[in-house]
Amino acid sequence: MIELRGLVKRYHMGEETVLALAGVDLFIGRNEYVALIGPSGSGKSTLMNLIGCLDSATEGQYILNGRDTSSLSEDELAAVRNREIGFVFQSFHLLPRQTALQNVMQPLVYRRMAPAERRRRAVEALAQVGLGDRLEHRPNQLSGGQRQRVAVARALVGQPSILLADEPTGNLDSRTSAEIMALFDDLHAQGQTVVVVTHEPDIAAHCRRTIRVRDGLVVEDVINTAAAA
Ligand SMILES: Nc1ncnc2c1ncn2[C@@H]1O[C@H](COP(=O)(O)OP(=O)(O)OP(=O)(O)O)[C@@H](O)[C@H]1O
Ligand SMILES: [Mg+2]
Repeated sequence: MIELRGLVKRYHMGEETVLALAGVDLFIGRNEYVALIGPSGSGKSTLMNLIGCLDSATEGQYILNGRDTSSLSEDELAAVRNREIGFVFQSFHLLPRQTALQNVMQPLVYRRMAPAERRRRAVEALAQVGLGDRLEHRPNQLSGGQRQRVAVARALVGQPSILLADEPTGNLDSRTSAEIMALFDDLHAQGQTVVVVTHEPDIAAHCRRTIRVRDGLVVEDVINTAAAA
C-alpha cells in the first residue's frame, strides 16, 4: 500500500542544505501497525510528512495505493491527503473556537457531502473514540486525552486508508497515553493501518513492527512478536 523507493529529502536553508532523508526504501502493507522510532533529528517527522503527502520528496518514488505520487499536482496531492490519510499530532491541532463535532466534521467539508451526512459521520466517529457525550465541548473544555480523542475522530471520519500519528502521546501523562494506545490497538484490530512516530519504548511495544531511523536512513526493521495479537 505504501511503497517508498530511494526516497531522499533535502531542505534548503539559504546556503545550507540539510539531508533529512538519505534514501529510504520501505514497504508498508494494509492493516500493518508500525512504530517509527529513532533519535531526535533522524528524519521521522520528515518521513511521516512525505507518507502523509504533506510534502514531497527531493528524489525517489512514493507509490501510495498503486499510484506514483511524484507525478501529482499540489491540488491532486491535497485530494489524496484528504481521502487516504488521517493525521494525529502531538499538539492535537484542533480549532480552538470550534466544538468537538465541528472539528471532526472539518475534513468532510472538502468532500461533496450533504451537511446532515457530515454530521452523522462525525457523531459516529466521536462515539467510536468514546466521546459521544462531548459533541458540543470546545477543546479548552476537554482534557488532554479527550482532545487527542477528538483529533483521532477527526483523522478517522473520512475513512482514510492510513492513520499517521506523530508523537500522539507526547503531551499526555502515562495513563492517558495508554488509553490512546488502547484506542489505536482497537482501530488496528478493526483493520485500520496505523503508523506511529514515538520516542517511547512503551508506545512502540503496542505496534507489530518497529522501524528505526537514524541519519535519514532505515537502520532496523523488525517484527515485534511480543505485541498482543
Ligand atoms: N522544514 C525544515 N527545514 C529545514 N530543515 C528541516 C525542516 N524540517 C526538518 N529539518 C531537518 O531535517 C532533519 C530531520 O528532522 P525531523 O523533523 O524529520 O526529525 P525527527 O526525527 O522527527 O526529530 P524529533 O524526534 O526531534 O521530532 C533535522 O536535521 C531537521 O533539522
Ligand atoms: Mg519529529
